[in-house]
Formats: sequence, structure tokens, C-alpha cells
Amino acid sequence: MAVAAAHAPQANMGEPAPRVDARQKVTGEARYASDFPVANPAYAVLVTSAISKGRLVGLELEAAKAVPGVLDILTQDNTRELKELKFGAGGGGASTSIQNLGPEIAHDGQIIAMVVADSFEAAREAAHKIKASYAAETPSASFDSPGVTQEDITKVSERHKHMPQAGDAEAALASAEVTIDARYGTPTQHHNPIELFTTTCAWDDGHLTVYEPSQFVYGIKNKLAEKMGIEPEKVHAVSPLVGGAFGSKGQLTPRSGFVALAARRLNRPVKLVPTRAEGFTIATYRAETRHRVRLGARRDGKLVGYSHQGWEITSRPDPYGVAGVEESAHLYAFGAVATHVDIVHADRNTPGFMRSPPVVPYVYALESAMDELAVKLEMDPVELRRINDTAKDPVTGKPFSSRSLMKCYDAAAAAFGWSRRNAQPGAMREGEWLIGMGCATAVYPTHIGACTARVRLLSNGETRVQIAAHEIGNGAGTVIAQTAAERLGVPLSSVKVEVGDSSLPPAPVAGGSNTTASSCSAVLKACDAIIAKLSSGVAGQIMPGSLADQFKRLGVGAIEEYAEFIPPGVPADAVQKLYAGTPTLTGGHQGEKLMYAMGAEFVEVRVNASTREIRVPRMVGAFAAGRIMNTRTARSQLMGGMIWGISSALHEATDVDPRTARYVNDNLADYLIPVNADVDQVDVILVSEQDDFVNPAGVKGLGELANVGTAAAVANAVYNATGIRIRELPIRIDKLLEV
Ligand code: MOS
Repeated sequence: MAVAAAHAPQANMGEPAPRVDARQKVTGEARYASDFPVANPAYAVLVTSAISKGRLVGLELEAAKAVPGVLDILTQDNTRELKELKFGAGGGGASTSIQNLGPEIAHDGQIIAMVVADSFEAAREAAHKIKASYAAETPSASFDSPGVTQEDITKVSERHKHMPQAGDAEAALASAEVTIDARYGTPTQHHNPIELFTTTCAWDDGHLTVYEPSQFVYGIKNKLAEKMGIEPEKVHAVSPLVGGAFGSKGQLTPRSGFVALAARRLNRPVKLVPTRAEGFTIATYRAETRHRVRLGARRDGKLVGYSHQGWEITSRPDPYGVAGVEESAHLYAFGAVATHVDIVHADRNTPGFMRSPPVVPYVYALESAMDELAVKLEMDPVELRRINDTAKDPVTGKPFSSRSLMKCYDAAAAAFGWSRRNAQPGAMREGEWLIGMGCATAVYPTHIGACTARVRLLSNGETRVQIAAHEIGNGAGTVIAQTAAERLGVPLSSVKVEVGDSSLPPAPVAGGSNTTASSCSAVLKACDAIIAKLSSGVAGQIMPGSLADQFKRLGVGAIEEYAEFIPPGVPADAVQKLYAGTPTLTGGHQGEKLMYAMGAEFVEVRVNASTREIRVPRMVGAFAAGRIMNTRTARSQLMGGMIWGISSALHEATDVDPRTARYVNDNLADYLIPVNADVDQVDVILVSEQDDFVNPAGVKGLGELANVGTAAAVANAVYNATGIRIRELPIRIDKLLEV
């Protein structure tokens, strides 16, 4: 690496550097949004709808107003000054168009009032004393409810105008030697970040500071300004650390406007810490999906056709959908491809992104169908993937920038001991435990967006990186620090990174796993500008001698450079748009080459022959995602992803009462997730892959890679253990008993 300084680099990329914020976090010093001290705060408590459809006809406020300490109650009558924002799936938009406190009720748990008081206790007591009366109608809860309406997503969603199609899939399927035609389903899921959906607002002379956990502080800044009818320059969004987000904190939710308004009316800071149950309905979630997958193949395993129809639940007004066929259609040499997605409107809150949103449900369905095809062909499922591996897009013919899928399969299969598998269901057994082995593909599009950064280097090597990227628990701040340390040739310990604040140069929404690629590319550019100055203005020309000497020669104590990184394929005004809160991400199948991170996951399950208890004693995943910036944080992301995969395979589902369209298990006691006892051995293999095409950092992004495919691998393993194919997630004991 060409560096100007004579320091030995102590933070080479790829090394397992511990997180720069690790100490802060384990000692409790770390400050999350609601931990920021504000002077003399008032406390807000929400009141939410008890019905899912109809009208709010009355609110009795007298008893609430009489509670000592109550300062204000926001209702539909005193909040009309809030501007209505357009729904915008994606970074920077409004999470839902359902933004008013009534009178129309569009879903259960819709906010209908907010009490503000001197103390949290008073606000809560008053909130409980508000009596709402409704004109209720019968809601439609989900797919099978009367009254839902269905729309072709290409007709109603700007994001999903074109579904992948290639050749004549119907003809190919009709004449195929072997076919699979199967239906799959995935349930509602909620992100359940440990940090709740808090908002604290403080005004000072017409300027608003908002402390809110966010995956996009420039989105909060711009959209909250719009909501309040003020200039974006007057809003400062602060979110240096986020305690879990997974897609749920990338957009502006209605609560922020209510808190900002309450603080303005009172001329006093207002803090809202909603309950976990409220989080199920005041933010977004992963909607339930249904799939019909058809595969056609020759006897030798070569695919000739793939047809995938998807159905996804959304709210009444908003055309939200993930349309994951846009990703799955590029995975193998399918031959002909036909895809179609319908969104189904029900009386529910608007869904949104949740970790690997498009790929998780759609690739679960596809990878289950691939396993079913392998069974029918009497072929090893790894070989089926090998036969249909491809260097180019089956839909457009474009090449992949790099593709290491089979390398991942081979590495994971060897480590797992796949050769010991008996393909005959129920053939492997240890005492009362039926043993099953299954595998599936993980895939995630490589995204990148325009990004800016400011770097300052002092003559003693102290470095400050300023970038409004987001530390959402993934180690973003750590790899950003490593990038600057390596490029400038200074020790990691002398680099300070400032993130998560809208007064810093903007970075894209922390979504689509673009953060490392975008942020590090911008930081590299700013570092290179510094190096160019140190090298007497000639970029890349290294001056001999120590850093201090070079500064002396230049006669300065510090060099600061601001850089704007604009990747190919995004519009020239992308930086302006970023400042305005509308980031443009590109990548995946959108560029001249297909850019995807890939992996292979192998799972062993044990199913009790009589009780049907399901255990996962071990998992092996091998992943290729371009350059790995930090093996420790990368491993941690991939391991966490696979564990989340166990969760969606065996545990996770938000139950929706079909009569009332209400969430039943809106708490962490009843919303099942794996605990340590459910996760035994998880091995992560990092398969080396060099890709100079994707971006200057060579990074593909892997935060959302490993939880794709796991659910199918578990389901395929359960089939291998029992001969029972469960096509509706999660796979729970009762489903294995019904057969
Ligand atoms: Mo992620 S669901 O793209 O925040």
C-alpha cells in the first residue's frame, strides 16, 4: 500500500481488529439516542387504536387532563399542522402514509393520541385514562381473509416496474422431463431490535435537534423538516449508535413528527420511549409471503425453466412489496424464466425492509424447490447446483463481476462432512434422534451509493474521520477507522471516527449492505487527497521521511480533505440527492455486470423420532463477498445471520389474529427466537474472492448475506431426517406431528 508516512501500518485491512466501540459498549458508557441528556425533559406516552379498521368517533380526555403533571395531549384536532409525507419505501422516505391520529383507523395499534407530562408515570397514567370510542368495521387480517384486494406490483410500485422474464417458461415447463410445482409460505416477522423506537426532540430558537436511532440521519433531517414545515438546515439528527435496526429504522415513522410537535408546543424537550408491543405497530415489519415455484429440468439435471409467482401482504394504502424474484431469477442457468408478484392489501400497518428483505422469502422458496428437484432427480443437491452454475445472467446474458458459489459449496461441504450424508430420508439415526443434512445457497446483491467523508490528519498521526454513516451494531465505525489507518499509514489507535450525525458529511442509508463499500470508498478518496498533498501535490508520489517532517515542509499542522465518492451507475447529482435525504443505491443486477455476494450453508438437524423436537447441532457456512475488511466483524455478521436463519426456520413468527387483525405475540416472551441452547456449533468459512470491478474498496458487503438460505437448508435437512417436506415456515413440532 502506498502511504506517505513512515509509520508501520498496524491496522491492515482484513485483520480481526476489535471493535473501536467495544469498550464503550461493554462498560455501559455507550450512549444510545434516548440516553442523551436534554434539559428538563417532558415525557410522552402513546395511545394506540384498539380496532384495526373503522373510524375514531370520540376521545374522552377529561380524566387524563386531570392527572397531575399532564402538560399536553396531542390528538387529531391539534396536529393538523403536520404535513403529510408521501410513502416512500427505501431510505429517506416515510415508512407509511398512515400518519394521522384519526379519524380513519387503518390498522391495529395506530397512534391516536400522545400524552405529554412532567413524568413518565403521569403520562402513562393519563394515557390509560383516555377513552376512545370507535365505529369499527370487520378487518381483513391476511391472505385468506375476505375483503383483501390484490394488485400486480409492476402496476403500482415505482421500484418494481419490471419483473425478470426470459424465453417461454410455460413451454419449457410443459416439455420438461422432470418438473416441480410447489407452494411455500413465510410468516409475518418483526425486527424486535433491543433498542426501542425512541424519539427525543429539543428546540432551540427554531432549530430542532432530534435524537432517534436511525439508519439514515440525513433522511430524518430532511423528512422531519418537511413534516414540520421548516428548512432542513434547521434539523439536526443525532444517532451515533443504534441498538439494532435490521431495516426498521431507515425511514421516518409518524411518531417523530408528534414528538417534535409536542416539544415545539411546550417549548421544552420531549422524550418518547414506546413499549415493545407498540413497536410492532408504530414501525414496520416483514410481511407474510406466499409462493408458487415451478422448476423444469432434463433428466441429467440441467434446468430448462423457472417460474416463480409471489404474493405479499401490505397495508391498505401503501404499495409495499419486496419482489425478491428480481434477485432469485439471476441465481442459476435456469433456461426460461417467468416471474410475477402480487401485493395483497389488508388492514395492517405498512410493512418494510427487514434484513435481506427480498431474498429471504424468495430464496427460501427457490432453494426448497431446488432440493425437491434434487430428490426427484435422485441427484445430490450440491451437484444439481453445480450443473446449473452460471457465469452469466440467465435473464440478460450479462456476466457476473465475480461468482464463487461453487467454491463456497466445496469448502463448506468438505468442512461439514457432506460426503457422509445418506440421501434416503430417515436413514441416519442415533438412538431416538433422526439425523438430517441439508444445504442451500445464500445470495445477496452488492449495493453501493454515493457517499462523502471528511478526513483530517495531524502531524503526530492523529486522524479524525467524519462521516454520517451509521453504527448499527455491525462494526461500521471499526472498518471505517481501519480503512483510514491503513491508507494513511497510522496506527488504528490514533484514528477517531465520528458517525451517525447529520452535521457530518452524508453517507447513504445503512441498508442493502452498502455501508462498508460506500463509506470506505469515500474515506479512501479523502485519504488519497491528503496523501497527494503530503507528496508535494503529486498524487501517489511518496515523499521519504517522517510524517512530522512532511508537515514541516508544507508549513501546516493539519491537512483536512473532504471527498465525494460517486460510483459508476448512479446519477451525477447523487451527492446533492444524498444531502437532500434521497440516496440512490445501485448494484446487484442493475449495472453492466451482475454483482452478488454468495455463500453455501450446510445444516445438520436432529429430529426426535417420537416427540418431533427439532435441534440444530451444527451449521457450516462458506461465504465469498469480495474483500473482507475485518475478519472478526465479518465473521460476527455471518454467524449472526445464520443464527437468524435458524430463527426463521424454526422459531420466528408474529401471529396475526384472523378475526381482529391484531398481533398476538407482541413481546419477547412469546415471540420466539433462538437462545444459546438452540445454537450449538456455527462455523463460518471466508472464501477468498478478489473483485476489482465492484468498487474501489473491492468490497461486496455481507451484512445481509448469511441469513439468506439458512431456512431452506434447515427445511431440506428436516426432509432428509423425516421424509416430511414442510413448506410453511416456521417448522415447529406440531407440523411434524400432523403428518
Ligand atoms: Mo437492511 S433490511 O437493507 O436495513
